[in-house]
Amino acid sequence: MCGIVGYIGNEQAQPILLTGLEKLEYRGYDSAGIYVVEHQKGYLFKEVGRIQQLKEATDYSICATYGIGHTRWATHGVPSTQNAHPHQSFDKRFTLVHNGVIENYQELKETYLSHVVLQGQTDTEVIVSLIAYFAQEKQWSAKQSFQYVLSLIHGSYAFALIDNQTPDVIYAAKHKSPLLVGIGSQFNMVCSDAMAGIHQTRQFIELHDGEFVTLTKADVSIEKDGHIIQRQSYTAQIDASDLEKGTYPFYMLKEIDEQPAVLRRIIKEYTKDNQLDIPNDVKQAILTSDRIHIIACGTSYHAGLVGKYYLETFAHIPTEVHIASEFSYHPPLISGKPFFIFISQSGETADSRQALVKINEWNYPSLTLTNVNGSTLSRESNYTLLLHAGPEIAVASTKAYIAQMAVLSIIAYALSHDTLKDAFNLSYELSLVSNAMESIISQKDDIHIFAKTYLKDAKHAFFIGRGLDYLVSLEAALKLKEISYIQTEGFAAGELKHGTIALIEQNTPVFTIITQDETSLNTRGNIQEVKARGAKTCTFVMGKLATKDDQFILPDVSKYLSPLLSIVPSQLLAYYATLELGYDVDKPRNLAKSVTVE
Ligand code: AGP
Repeated sequence: MCGIVGYIGNEQAQPILLTGLEKLEYRGYDSAGIYVVEHQKGYLFKEVGRIQQLKEATDYSICATYGIGHTRWATHGVPSTQNAHPHQSFDKRFTLVHNGVIENYQELKETYLSHVVLQGQTDTEVIVSLIAYFAQEKQWSAKQSFQYVLSLIHGSYAFALIDNQTPDVIYAAKHKSPLLVGIGSQFNMVCSDAMAGIHQTRQFIELHDGEFVTLTKADVSIEKDGHIIQRQSYTAQIDASDLEKGTYPFYMLKEIDEQPAVLRRIIKEYTKDNQLDIPNDVKQAILTSDRIHIIACGTSYHAGLVGKYYLETFAHIPTEVHIASEFSYHPPLISGKPFFIFISQSGETADSRQALVKINEWNYPSLTLTNVNGSTLSRESNYTLLLHAGPEIAVASTKAYIAQMAVLSIIAYALSHDTLKDAFNLSYELSLVSNAMESIISQKDDIHIFAKTYLKDAKHAFFIGRGLDYLVSLEAALKLKEISYIQTEGFAAGELKHGTIALIEQNTPVFTIITQDETSLNTRGNIQEVKARGAKTCTFVMGKLATKDDQFILPDVSKYLSPLLSIVPSQLLAYYATLELGYDVDKPRNLAKSVTVE
């Protein structure tokens, strides 16, 4: 996802903008740029690659007190300085940064700008030139021109605009892509998320779709359809220590290590009157439904698959799980009284948000599980339950996955009958998982050896399991492939023989997860099948099911909660395999932390 930061105040703008962009690096990008203004003269700096290169290219002798910055993750047009933001209009009067996708930019370009030669291939450059076109053609002000162009646009956007002829003002506008205003004393900011401004302020105002902002150092004016909007700011709950790697080489390892603490925080946050519970309004809303639909993407989807198991096993509510990008265009037959649960670490995933737009159109009730309070998905659903995982910086999601499954287990438990509550103390069982996680994490050096032993020079790998172990295999495979680039499949162990086993050849690494007693023998049979075809097998086995031939023993925990534990060795395996390959663990190629384009 692209990142936006704007600053207007009394201090030099360059360092503030560049630090803001650094805080957004985790989201993934391929180029970056800033535009600053001193005495109505603008200075543009753009670089392909890392923020550090942009910092080195920036001129700090300029005493600019306002400007805008951007990190770009290429959607239209290749990563290049021409395509990097900020973009300028053909007459260099206007400068714009943009997050989102304008669907009708080619049509607008042909209609209004056929006479103009553009520098790059991006939709953003078309929009900023359109603003200049109407300012010239109609002799409109920057604000009038900008607002008129917004009325022509179809698509998603978060914009920040500077007009050289309107000094000491930044304009901003938002539709579908996130944008916040940061509030300071004698300065104000605009940011695609609070992290870009947290080094300057903790006070933010969320912007909603269709809103337009005029920002000066002393004032913030939000309007929609000509009406002024008054909105209270909120205090961003981001702890500074969460943002720094500290002694860790990568955020991913820090976030894996944080998982036991995250679990304990969740237990604390969801304990009411000595019982794990969820707010009554959420409980009642779900209990009046006759079917739950979980909608998510990627790792969050994998957490949803485990959530289905909890909701059906603990609460006996039929539950379906949908990939968001599929649901939006191929919705299932929805009958009776459905309830929708959206799972999203960032709360900004466009595919999930698009599905929520449909659910809201159909007037169905929805709950969002997210790590970011005030995020788009949380604002646009009826209810929100927070993951309390702390900011997750690494692109590969780890602690959020654990948190999602833990919160889903609490929801299902809260909805269950008292007989289950009498027989099963979820709070106690989750705390055992937290301790068991620490035990696994303390053996990370063993996992590092596994990474060298099983994955050195590997081009393909498999994770297999049955039931909950199959669901964890899907997530384990995603972890490994998205950061090591080793083609990896998570597969139902019993299904291999129906075709895919043809791929097993000499030394193909096959990792097997065994935590469920009712299927452990069958899965061991599948291990023999792949071994007979030359596979190098490695097993992650719950203690009570282990044999002397197993490679890694997981401490015994409730079999219901085994996914929260059995994923940890695979997270570490992916981390160390990537480390051995010398790739950037936190920022894998082609990926962004939050995908805000469909
Ligand atoms: C997980 O490791 C990936 N980074 C990705 O699959 C992610 O889970 C997915 O994009 C959904 O993101 P969200 O939870 O913020 O909606």
